[in-house]
Amino acid sequence: MSEELIFHVKPHIAASASVNAKSLALMNNHASLDPDPFWLEQARRLDWMRFPTIAGSGGFGGPGDETVEISWFADGTLNASVNCLDRHLASRGDETALIWQGEIEAQTARLSFHDLHDKVCRLANVLKAHGVGRGDRVATYLPMVVESVVAMLACARIGAVHVVMFAGFSPSGVASRIRDSAARLLITADEGRRGGKRIPLKTMADAALDELGDAAPPHVLVVSVTGAAVPMKQGRDHDFATLVEAAAPDCAPEEMGAEDPLLILYTSGSTGAPKGVLHTTGGYLLWASLTHEMVFDHRPGDVFWCTADLGWVTGHSYVVYGPLANGGTTLVFEGTPSFPSPGRWWQVIDKHAVNGFYTAPTAIRALMRDDPAVVDAARLDSLRVLGSVGEPINAEAWLWFYEKVGHARCPVIDSWWQTETGGMMIVPVPGAVAQKPGSATLPLPGVRAVLVDEKGQVLDGAAEGHLCIDGSWPGQARTLWGDHGRFVQTYFTTYPGLYFSGDGARRDADGYFWITGRVDDVINVSGHRIGSAEVESAFATHAAVSESAVIGVPDDLKGQSLAAFVVVRGGAAAAPQDLRGELAAHVGRQLGRYAAPDLVVLVSDLPKTRSGKVMRRILRKIATGEHEQLGDVSTLADPSVIDSLLESMAGVRNAGPTG
Ligand code: PRX
Repeated sequence: MSEELIFHVKPHIAASASVNAKSLALMNNHASLDPDPFWLEQARRLDWMRFPTIAGSGGFGGPGDETVEISWFADGTLNASVNCLDRHLASRGDETALIWQGEIEAQTARLSFHDLHDKVCRLANVLKAHGVGRGDRVATYLPMVVESVVAMLACARIGAVHVVMFAGFSPSGVASRIRDSAARLLITADEGRRGGKRIPLKTMADAALDELGDAAPPHVLVVSVTGAAVPMKQGRDHDFATLVEAAAPDCAPEEMGAEDPLLILYTSGSTGAPKGVLHTTGGYLLWASLTHEMVFDHRPGDVFWCTADLGWVTGHSYVVYGPLANGGTTLVFEGTPSFPSPGRWWQVIDKHAVNGFYTAPTAIRALMRDDPAVVDAARLDSLRVLGSVGEPINAEAWLWFYEKVGHARCPVIDSWWQTETGGMMIVPVPGAVAQKPGSATLPLPGVRAVLVDEKGQVLDGAAEGHLCIDGSWPGQARTLWGDHGRFVQTYFTTYPGLYFSGDGARRDADGYFWITGRVDDVINVSGHRIGSAEVESAFATHAAVSESAVIGVPDDLKGQSLAAFVVVRGGAAAAPQDLRGELAAHVGRQLGRYAAPDLVVLVSDLPKTRSGKVMRRILRKIATGEHEQLGDVSTLADPSVIDSLLESMAGVRNAGPTG
């Protein structure tokens, strides 16, 4: 049904947008026929210290050749903080660069480019004084506060590499990221606020630092967010504000090579621990800024609100780097969608006259459940472009967003991309591309999205297959921190010569892409990317667990939710009543609450092939009640396991998802 629905570009949008169908066609042509000159021309949007003479070089290897080297603008030099701040000082230094809206309504801050520049330079000086230099990693574990943005840009200013960690991660999650990145300094806060509650960040950071022992960074800066009294370890912990106030307000930016690292961001894969995706300076910044301008039709003076946490790539590219590089005003919201009451987001949009609004399908689905009077009460007349990201958006949620929030006036852009792509890849350019609810539509200029079948054959025309990208684009991740072999293995060996996204997709007769979701063992819960292996490892740290298998099952609100089948020592029958709840909570403590499974089933064994591989397909069918259609089970080592799994599942239905 949704495929027949098309929302054509309205004439007034085409007329006023910076990119229309004609200019997009020109860009597409130029990018495919003459890529190097095209990208060097695009590079002019940044402020370079030395303008590059080369665009893309290197390649993805191919059959029998596993050399993957990706490089963009390699002889250019620049500084990302200069692009986000200094270059706007002369023309719009007193305009607002950042609006901070606290969870507490009365707490609002507006920082001009001058203000932000001042704070960034001061912190950059503090970092230097604590021994941080070019190439050193700085980890942050902060809520949605101004200091979090300042920290990222201060690192960029001195050539340090930021490693931003989501404030919802557990101490162990924080410890493993600090250990892997060998961060020299940590910036955290006393507490964070969330939905009226307080998150004891410093206490959690202390637990992470204890876990790290000798591998802990020698210095910790602590931002006072709530003013709570927190223990400060003499010599290690320092009050952020005191140091920043005392520091000099000028700091010369480091001249960085375009290929020098800007950031590491940990994300989940199908195997092992989260991996440190590394982005470099020139290509990443170009991609964030170009896509933000084209896709949100950014105009001078626009207020842009991306609701993503700074701990995810969406926050990096579309709260910080894209909007600020474009001289826009970015809104950072500390709160949650419905606190203290439903409709809070709509009030924020009206209060700060937001023009571009970028959020996730899970949030839209949750907000749709509010009393319709809540969204109707808001004006929402400042909005011009609405965006969705992170998971497939169902047509119903798309239409609600379009009609109720955008008043059938604002294009809705469904953007497909990944931590590894740096920025948007498949997405409608609003003044040029008609939208179909549920489709991310067409690739951006220079992005060659292809579908391949299981054997790696590239499919033409209307088809369904695995989504790959043929050839590099500037925003692409260059490597995984400290493990280039894993980078090559994860993305370039499944289909030699192509970047494999891990997603499945369908392409319709108009060439539009419809993303169907992950085809690997990555699970997308409310747009949070969770690896089954990561959750299984967390289970394994519980004394009662001998083995587990974690799968994603469809969920009306979250897109997918986690279901875990756990083999316990001593047998499921003898397990205490509350063990299932305890195991879910244990995973929450190990990884962060967002990764706690909604369903835990204690089983006596897992369905395995004769070679010992868990048949997740069978678990998915059992968890969703489709056990009548288990498909081919002839490869199971022990077919009797099915009856015992069904019995355990029936027991769970009686007792509730986690006991
Ligand atoms: O499965 C795809 C899904 O999110 C994954 C990437 O997650 P992450 O690296 O955390 O980045 C999220 C923000 C870009 C993808 O592999 N995904 C992302 N956007 C969409 C999507 N699935 C469907 N439609 C989208 N628009």
